[in-house]
Amino acid sequence: MPDVLITGSNRGLGLEWVRQYAEEGWRVFATCRHPAEARSLWELSGQHPEVSIHRLDVTVVEDIRGLFWELEGTPVDVLLGNAGVYLEKNVAEFGSLCYHDWLRTLEVNTMGTIRVAERFLENIAKSQKRLIVAVSSHMGSIADIQDPGSYYYRSSKAALNAVMQGLAVKLKPRGIGVLILHPGGVKTRMGPPHGISAQESVHGMRRIVQDFQLERDTGRFVKYDLAPMPW
Ligand SMILES: NC(=O)c1ccc[n+]([C@@H]2O[C@H](COP(=O)([O-])OP(=O)(O)OC[C@H]3O[C@@H](n4cnc5c(N)ncnc54)[C@H](OP(=O)(O)O)[C@@H]3O)[C@@H](O)[C@H]2O)c1
Repeated sequence: MPDVLITGSNRGLGLEWVRQYAEEGWRVFATCRHPAEARSLWELSGQHPEVSIHRLDVTVVEDIRGLFWELEGTPVDVLLGNAGVYLEKNVAEFGSLCYHDWLRTLEVNTMGTIRVAERFLENIAKSQKRLIVAVSSHMGSIADIQDPGSYYYRSSKAALNAVMQGLAVKLKPRGIGVLILHPGGVKTRMGPPHGISAQESVHGMRRIVQDFQLERDTGRFVKYDLAPMPW
C-alpha cells in the first residue's frame, strides 16, 4: 500500500485525511505539533497500526530535520501539505494590520508547506505515486477577490499557489506531480460553521489524488469536487 505524510493532522481536515487513508489501508505518517496532546490521532493509530504519529511544526527546522532522519530512505507516495493558520479571523483591517501575524501566516502556510516539500523531495522521488499536494484555498485566487480583507491568509495562499505551480513545471521531468487543492468551505475550527463536512471534502480530494495523472493534472488548481479554480 502507498505511504502518505500529512502535516497538521491532529484535527480538522488533516485528521480526516488520516482517518480515510488509514481505512483504505495506507501507511500514514501523521504529523502534528504536539503529539502528546493529539488524542484523536492516538485513537486512530490504536485502531490502525499503519498510522504512526510524529512531531512536526512546519516552521521548526529541527522538527523537519528530525522527521527527515526518522524516515530516511522511506518512500513517500503522497506528501500532503495540509497545516495552515488563519490568524485574522477576529480583526485585521487595512489601517491596523498586524505585520507579526502576517509574517507568521506566511511562515506556516507558504514557507512551512514548501520547506517540508523541499526536505522530503527525495523520499517522494523514491515512491511509486510521486505526488505533492498543497492544501490551498479559493482565497489564494487573485482573480476571485470580491470582498476586501483576509490580507495575510490570501497572500499566503496566493504565494503558495505560485510556488507550487513553478514546482509543477520544475518537477515534471522527474515524474513528480503537484496538485493544488481547495477543500471547499469546511466545518473545522478554521472553516465556516455552515460548511460541508470534513468527510465530504476529503472524500472528494482523495478521489482527485487517486485519479491523478502527471501529464494531464500536474499544476492544476481544483476544488474538492473537481471544479477548476481561477488563479
Ligand atoms: N476549513 C476550510 O473551510 C478551509 C478552506 C480552504 C482551505 N483550508 C485549508 O485546509 C487546511 C486545513 O485547515 P482546517 O480547516 O483543517 O483547519 P484547522 O482545523 O484549524 O486545522 C489546522 C491544522 O494545522 C495545524 N497547524 C497550524 N500551525 C502549524 C504549524 N506551524 N505546524 C504544523 N501544523 C500546524 C494545526 O495544528 P494545532 O492544533 O497544533 O494548531 C491543525 O492541525 C489549511 O491549510 C487551510 O488553510 C480550509
